[in-house]
Amino acid sequence: MSNNRTYSMVKPHAVADGHIGGILKMIEEAGFRIVALKKTRLNPEQAGKFYAVHEGRPFYEHLCQMMSEGPIVAMILEKDNAVADFRALIGSTDPAEAADGTIRKAFAKSKSENAVHGSDSDENAAIESSFFFSETERF
Ligand code: CMP
Repeated sequence: MSNNRTYSMVKPHAVADGHIGGILKMIEEAGFRIVALKKTRLNPEQAGKFYAVHEGRPFYEHLCQMMSEGPIVAMILEKDNAVADFRALIGSTDPAEAADGTIRKAFAKSKSENAVHGSDSDENAAIESSFFFSETERF
């Protein structure tokens, strides 16, 4: 995947609270093109695989439980400098530290229930995108 794309998902608490539309609006207004999008659901094993890099960390079990408690919205986003620009748009992991105008400032509830995920590198954006979308869906 080029450095024009990143992977994101709206987390279950934000879906349950009716924030899909508000989050997508902020994403599109920030200049991202939605390349692929689906509402789906992770089971605890899939959530564990997706977040395997965090295995062993104190928040890992809760993270896997939280990410599998309801539907998520998975998406691939396109824009120049997508990974870094999207991380700036979502804000800090901890909503108490998230800047005004960021998605997490608007919709996160805690460090764990932080509304959205955003890939942290081009390499992970490619891996995470193929976790949810087939080759033909990534157009
Ligand atoms: P995300 O961007 O999806 O990537 C890893 C996730 O782990 C993160 O958002 C949070 O949901 C969660 N996380 C990271 N750090 C902490 C923490 N210190 N306490 C609780 N959850 C965390």
